[in-house]
Amino acid sequence: MIEAMEISRSFGSTQALGGVSFRIGKGEVLCLLGHNGAGKSTLVSILATALPPTSGTARVAGYDVVREAREVRRRIGLTGQFAAVDEGLNGRDNLVLVARLLGADRAGARRRADELLEAFSLTAAAGRPAGTYSGGMRRRLDLASSFVGDPQVLFLDEPTTGLDPVSRGALWDLVRARVAEGTTVLLTTQYLEEAEQLADRVIVLGQGRTIADGTVAELKARLGGSCVRAQLIDPAHADAAAGALRRAGLEPRTGEPDGTVLVPVRASAALARVVRALDEAGVGITEISLTEPTLDDVYLALAEQTASDAAVSGAVVPLPGVHGPARHRDGREAVAP
Ligand SMILES: Nc1ncnc2c1ncn2[C@@H]1O[C@H](COP(=O)(O)OP(=O)(O)O)[C@@H](O)[C@H]1O
Ligand SMILES: [Mg+2]
Repeated sequence: MIEAMEISRSFGSTQALGGVSFRIGKGEVLCLLGHNGAGKSTLVSILATALPPTSGTARVAGYDVVREAREVRRRIGLTGQFAAVDEGLNGRDNLVLVARLLGADRAGARRRADELLEAFSLTAAAGRPAGTYSGGMRRRLDLASSFVGDPQVLFLDEPTTGLDPVSRGALWDLVRARVAEGTTVLLTTQYLEEAEQLADRVIVLGQGRTIADGTVAELKARLGGSCVRAQLIDPAHADAAAGALRRAGLEPRTGEPDGTVLVPVRASAALARVVRALDEAGVGITEISLTEPTLDDVYLALAEQTASDAAVSGAVVPLPGVHGPARHRDGREAVAP
């Protein structure tokens, strides 16, 4: 449903994208993961026909994004990074407007708007100006408007940035429901967790280049999973704690600050094992937490991997079981600071 071939884009002397390629099939969710400035929005704009590439070609739903832009536009939905709702119009009229623009008659537009208001839990607020909506409601309205035309392909550019955890979870559910109906989704995010929740496949972008390509599980396997961090009541118990954890089959890290115990774990269930081991050893703790890897950890791990992998210069950092061929890009240079 989406095929990008060596897409590059420059703005003056800034190269926003430096040859990105991938293909995704119907009903798949691809997540573009990257920090600010990585090139995510530029890629989405190109695929959604809002911006021509400087070089390279792309097809969406079978049509060329430059030569057949109108055909592409009829088959896609786009939710931009900055919510595109008309604040003066109420929620319902925002959706009716989009439906009318897409060619629905008055009654049809109204029907579609009401369906979507219901699906996005906005019925109660339908008559209020969108300008009075909370951040989460605006995002939902924005997402609803990208669903109006029943798109085959949905582009979501950082759909949950700035949302509270509850709104974020609600939005994920809406996307999942859409995917279950066969919609193909390309989503950008700065959150590894979001990719984990939704994506079949992840492409990590760094300075406009693909620096990793694979599944979230593959990416996380490379990061060594999560970490349990415990704060001891008495720092003098650090050795006793480390001994107890080793006896429990765990591998606490050494060289942490006074009284802090750090234990890399594969699964969140290991949190209980850490607690039990410390408790049995009579080591008191004031605080314990499970830290999930973040996008920063991904970049760091990829940078380390690339540095220790100097022999394969010119290759994209391959994840185990990587989809498609490695692309000739220098991963080290591509790693964001
Ligand atoms: N219209 C534009 N004019 C000039 N530079 C741009 C423009 N759009 C994006 N850029 C630059 O391209 C790079 C990638 O930007 P963008 O695609 O917005 O990244 P992301 O969405 O990952 O944060 C950045 O360096 C950004 O400053
Ligand atoms: Mg962006």
